[in-house]
Amino acid sequence: MKEIRAVKGTSDILPPQSYLWQYVEKVCRTLSERAGYLEIRTPIFEETGLFERSIGETTEVVEKQMYTFTTAGGEQITLRPEMTAPTMRAYLENNLHKKGAFRKFYYIGPSFRYERPQAGRSRQFHQFGVEAIGSKDPLLDAETIILAWDIATECGVPGLSLHLNSIGCAECRPQYRKTVSAQVESFLPSLCEDCGRRAKRNLFRVFDCKKETCRKVIAKLPPIDASLCLPCREQFEKVKQLVSRYVNKWEIDPHLVRGLDYYTNTVYELTAEALGAQDSIGGGGRYDYLIRDLGGPEIPAVGFALGLDRIILALSPGSQRASSLQPRTTVFLAPVSEDVREFACDLLIRLRRSGIAADMDFEAKSLKAQLRQADKSNARFVAVIGQEEVQNSFVKLKELASGKEEKVQIDALSARMSQLMLDECV
Ligand code: HAM
Repeated sequence: MKEIRAVKGTSDILPPQSYLWQYVEKVCRTLSERAGYLEIRTPIFEETGLFERSIGETTEVVEKQMYTFTTAGGEQITLRPEMTAPTMRAYLENNLHKKGAFRKFYYIGPSFRYERPQAGRSRQFHQFGVEAIGSKDPLLDAETIILAWDIATECGVPGLSLHLNSIGCAECRPQYRKTVSAQVESFLPSLCEDCGRRAKRNLFRVFDCKKETCRKVIAKLPPIDASLCLPCREQFEKVKQLVSRYVNKWEIDPHLVRGLDYYTNTVYELTAEALGAQDSIGGGGRYDYLIRDLGGPEIPAVGFALGLDRIILALSPGSQRASSLQPRTTVFLAPVSEDVREFACDLLIRLRRSGIAADMDFEAKSLKAQLRQADKSNARFVAVIGQEEVQNSFVKLKELASGKEEKVQIDALSARMSQLMLDECV
């Protein structure tokens, strides 16, 4: 029979690696909650129209990468390719804009894009993101950027850099579009077929092209900063001022526009040196018209998403660190014969209920094999239980690291182990 394997572009996360993930997720949650962001959970799939309207119909994501299907009931559904649009849908649907507009959310979970899998790029990947809704304050743009930077730093990502730009607003972008349009027109013969199409349908998507020949042309296009209107320029100056005080490696990337249509003003990406081609560990920016475009009032917002798979990859080789993060069994109970196994199991449950991480063998192994298993499970102590121990209510408690052994009364076992572990800490 043919073996069923994980679908291309997806992967399993096994222990101890799953504990490196938990660690990174904990850093994300702790730092965001410290900054006042609260968790929101939205469904993994949404009506397709949500992404078409927000990300933009002519973007790579919507044109080529969405997992879209029709349900048995005839609905057009898409597995979320990102989590900003679902968060805004939830914000509107739950009438949060009517209950005091300003909100700060964070989210964490899988997203799906049908991309060509390679190191750092998968079809199911995981994002952590924040969205601050209801303020145009440039200090808020800076807050999100610094938060993304601090999370990546706290996780231990090496070789971080921030790439920053402003893509202006509805007032100043048309002028820039005019300037770029004329130039792109003259470069058309040197651009790829996709860019030719993009130039006609959604000009700024030309900037997203990764092809080397197109990148050379893009580098010759005028930067947007000269076209920014005064309020956009002032806004961007404030963002830069604050960011430069707290982020030690940053640069302006005048052609950074980000591949999603909803952005306005500040846009940014965080890269990690060691990651090679897929070096963007996160990105974000301001999106002041998205809520309006989804049918709500005009409420400004700003946020970012980090790619957790790429953060984990940047921490590699993280296997040693992952092992050290995996939970340890405190005590492994080793009954010497079948007739004392039930007694050991009772003790196991009592220890667990008193808060001790306790385990035993469930395959009726020999004592020698049980001791090997205790060692493998990285237990701190092993407690051997035989007939004599059962009759006199004690165990022989051995500390595996030091080899020290002592007799401990069963009623005092939990307290004794806690004491020994405390002694180890001081
Ligand atoms: P994005 O740049 O499309 O932005 O994705 C954010 C991050 O998700 C990327 O920088 C990357 O680390 C990770 N990522 C994206 N696609 C993949 C993939 N196929 N495999 C592995 N990792 C991937 C957004 O999604 C916006 N919603 C961010 C945002 C939030 N903007 C404002 N608020």
